[in-house]
Amino acid sequence: VAYRLAFIGFGTVGQGLAEILLDKREALRSQYGFEWEVVAISDITKGAVYSEKGLDLSGVLSVLQKTGRLDGYSEGIKGWDSLKTIRETNADVIIEVTFTNIETAEPALSHVKTALSLGKHVVTSNKGPAALALEELTNLAKEKGVFFKFEGAVMSGTPLISVGLNGLAGSEIQEIRGILNGTTNYILTEMEKGKTYEEALREAQRLGYAEAVPDADVEGWDALAKILILANALMKANLKVKDVEREGITKITPSDIEEARREGKRWKLIARAQREGGKVTAQVRPQALPLEDPLAQVMGVTNALTFRTDLLGGVTVIGPGAGRKETGFALLTDLLEIHRYLSHGSRS
Ligand SMILES: NC(=O)c1ccc[n+]([C@@H]2O[C@H](COP(=O)([O-])OP(=O)(O)OC[C@H]3O[C@@H](n4cnc5c(N)ncnc54)[C@H](OP(=O)(O)O)[C@@H]3O)[C@@H](O)[C@H]2O)c1
Repeated sequence: VAYRLAFIGFGTVGQGLAEILLDKREALRSQYGFEWEVVAISDITKGAVYSEKGLDLSGVLSVLQKTGRLDGYSEGIKGWDSLKTIRETNADVIIEVTFTNIETAEPALSHVKTALSLGKHVVTSNKGPAALALEELTNLAKEKGVFFKFEGAVMSGTPLISVGLNGLAGSEIQEIRGILNGTTNYILTEMEKGKTYEEALREAQRLGYAEAVPDADVEGWDALAKILILANALMKANLKVKDVEREGITKITPSDIEEARREGKRWKLIARAQREGGKVTAQVRPQALPLEDPLAQVMGVTNALTFRTDLLGGVTVIGPGAGRKETGFALLTDLLEIHRYLSHGSRS
């Protein structure tokens, strides 16, 4: 039986996943027995379309490319908003890919809660719900016998949640420490090449890495949301935003960079959570790392995370932290994990 998917939000990441699903349709079927139909897409600016029998996804994408809208597609019901789409379509998996709101997690939190309450699986790359309401959403999903999956919320498709939950199962994760924000790592890398903070930020904005208002990145809020997700998901920390100490990179000067270089060190914005005396604490702050630290070698927009565990010592995962295909892929891995579990009754 094919999974019936509905996209809530259809921007960069949603379209990235749609393209992957189309490109890999045959391989997903033959290698994994995974079959899918997209029954609905609802986007606040591009419009919405629903067909209970399934949409011709490549047809929808080409209409979207030509007109910038979804409702030019010839068939189906048009105009259903996000909540109506979640409640009233026959989708059994909701793909939540609207924007991240780290203050309230809305509207994504309502999307996720509504879907789970109705017994629909949720896969998302949105940081808001996982950062602010992980325990509640995980419990709700369990109660309803469905999945809430969010691999793409941290480091896009580079596997961290699955490494922590599955690959490292049986060990105790004592510390996680990483470079979880590509924009600030890019800025620090450019400053090391001789740019001032302002010049490096402008370049990051020109390349589309940083927003016009760059605070979420440079003040450490994005990294905070991500370490919160990892600490709560992988270390059962039960931390809230206010529990995490936060300092961004705006105070780092070219002379700080030069001084670190003389000492054989390199500045990085480090997000860290550690277990001490049964309690997990977390911080985001710039640190000058010795060059031997694997994280010191991670340059540009690349991200990385080191797990320290009781049985394996340090394990570092390095990879892309963002991108259309990269984050679309994260959603695909979540879909495949749900499918593996439902079809074999096991997670691997
Ligand atoms: N792009 C990446 O590399 C990346 C990596 C990791 C995680 N993420 C996360 O993944 C999510 C999606 O990212 P993205 O890059 O695809 O963002 P995006 O291009 O801005 O797409 C989000 C889409 O959702 C729409 N939307 C907003 N509110 C909605 C609502 N209530 N109902 C229906 N549609 C709504 C947006 O419309 P408007 O344009 O009108 O707002 C937009 O079209 C975000 O939460 C982001 O933080 C992205």
